[in-house]
Amino acid sequence: MEHEHLNYPEALKFLAKKYHIEIVEKEVTPEEIEKQNERESLLVLSAYASRQFAENLFSSDEGIRVGLSYFRERGFNQNILKKFEVGYSFEKRDAFTKQALEDGYRKDFLVKSGLSIEHEDHVFDRFSGRVMFPIHSLSGQVLGFGGRILKTDAKTAKYLNSPESEIYHKSRILYGIYQARKSITQLDNVYLVEGYTDVMSLHEVGIENVVASSGTSLTQEQVRLVKRFTPNITILYDGDAAGIKASIRGIDIVLEEGMNVKIVLLPDGEDPDSYSKKVSNEEFLKYLREKETDFIRFKTQLLLEEAANDPVKKANLIRDIVRSIAVIPEVITRTVYIKECSTRLDIQEAVLYNEVNKMLRQRSFQDRNRYPAPEDLPVPPPVIPKTVRHEPTTHISEKEIIRLLLKFGSTGFERHISPEDGREEIITVSDFIVKDITADDLAFDDPVLGSIFEEFRFASEQGIFIEDSHFVKHSDPVISRLAADLLSEPHTLSRIFAAKQTYVETEDMKLRDIVPDALLKFKGDKIKIRLKDIMKQLEEAVKYGDRERIHELQTRDQNLKAALRAISEKLGKRIII
Ligand code: CTP
Ligand code: MN
Repeated sequence: MEHEHLNYPEALKFLAKKYHIEIVEKEVTPEEIEKQNERESLLVLSAYASRQFAENLFSSDEGIRVGLSYFRERGFNQNILKKFEVGYSFEKRDAFTKQALEDGYRKDFLVKSGLSIEHEDHVFDRFSGRVMFPIHSLSGQVLGFGGRILKTDAKTAKYLNSPESEIYHKSRILYGIYQARKSITQLDNVYLVEGYTDVMSLHEVGIENVVASSGTSLTQEQVRLVKRFTPNITILYDGDAAGIKASIRGIDIVLEEGMNVKIVLLPDGEDPDSYSKKVSNEEFLKYLREKETDFIRFKTQLLLEEAANDPVKKANLIRDIVRSIAVIPEVITRTVYIKECSTRLDIQEAVLYNEVNKMLRQRSFQDRNRYPAPEDLPVPPPVIPKTVRHEPTTHISEKEIIRLLLKFGSTGFERHISPEDGREEIITVSDFIVKDITADDLAFDDPVLGSIFEEFRFASEQGIFIEDSHFVKHSDPVISRLAADLLSEPHTLSRIFAAKQTYVETEDMKLRDIVPDALLKFKGDKIKIRLKDIMKQLEEAVKYGDRERIHELQTRDQNLKAALRAISEKLGKRIII
């Protein structure tokens, strides 16, 4: 996953392909096969179109005279044109369509891809007389095109883009990501610009970690796409009103995804393309370095000018900034920004905390599904009392252990070959769990769960087999009810393992992860309780000045904390996505 920057299912497919293993994801319906075929046909057609357009640009009279000279005039050198595989679409209204049909491409795909437009009986080119910018996928496949007219003609749109299709989804792709991916990783930062030519110009200056949103406001999917490579983004937009607006719109969506945002505004009237060509490379790079501001400073500066001495406007401004801070998922980052905002706007931190918390509450109430219940920020005293921390509870992890025992207790978990007689021995899930918990001498806090565990322990140690229905039919109604509840409660699993979508659907395979993880979680919770207990004892010891005891408790505290760290590291490593 790390090496190829793939997500988990992509990595699986990658490896399966490499080792010739067939992956059957699910039953494929005829419509899905149809769709898949359509995708493939569209990809083949787009690659063909891209080659044709490039050939037109470099090897035809019209292409060289009109298209290439346009690019030259704008100051793009040959390397960049080749790197971005730009091209030219002939002026003749159906030149491309005709050629494609002649070369055996089907009309319906030409129309579906948007390369051709069908009107009554005629099929003609969408992009005739335009220079062409192919839009690539992460792996370099051509998905769609942007085409720019050459004359400044108010009648037609400056750029035309491919319509949405089975392969081209504007909101999911960023222009330039294919050419930028390596550099983004290396530099651990990405520049976001608006246009095709901005991306190309930055490459000419030597900045290769750049992508464009292609004139539309940034989407969550686009942010997630770059976030796979880096958490750091620098928005680089025009200094005019529209550019500023676009940056502001972009900020919140980026913050929401937990990325770190910087902003560079270019001088009024310049875009990255024009400015990079106006000044020397060194000056341009220097400008980027020096004008980079974080979003708080950017927003405050911008809005303070507007608000000036108007208290109502200033209040709105504060709310505006606070709203941005509130979308940041990470507490520490939020805290840092609140500090900064407090200094810049000369407002008490406590007031800002209050506002942010208020918004968080509203937000988590409004769209609870989208936001994983953000914890309230700790509020500094004395303005508001500290938020109450939850007592550590072992109940959920204890329940999960018992649920696994009830559901899979008799399932085989490991094979052992006995070293004495070479006989094979099956260790069941129940044997494994009992051994592990007994070895660490841990006990259950909940008495009912504890008594169920004791029955499993007894059975396992005596080699007795517990029937699946034993607990549901238990003579103790409390136990039978609990057993029935746990067995009919599939979401317990998803609660603990929410982050662990392993995509591997057979339960036996999942058990190899689920059982050890449940045990780790169980142990982690026990340690947390012990740590709390030690804290209390430590307070006592400090009160009585019992140095030896303090030292002893501190050592235990450190050991337990180390154990806890080891546990969460193990748990963290297995969480794949
Ligand atoms: N865009 C578009 N349709 C338009 C205008 C713009 O799709 N009618 C998109 C293009 O992706 C374009 C980006 O918005 O690259 C930025 O637009 P703009 O700043 O107007 O164009 P530039 O990128 O500056 O293009 P150029 O330098 O060629 O004029
Ligand atoms: Mn421009």
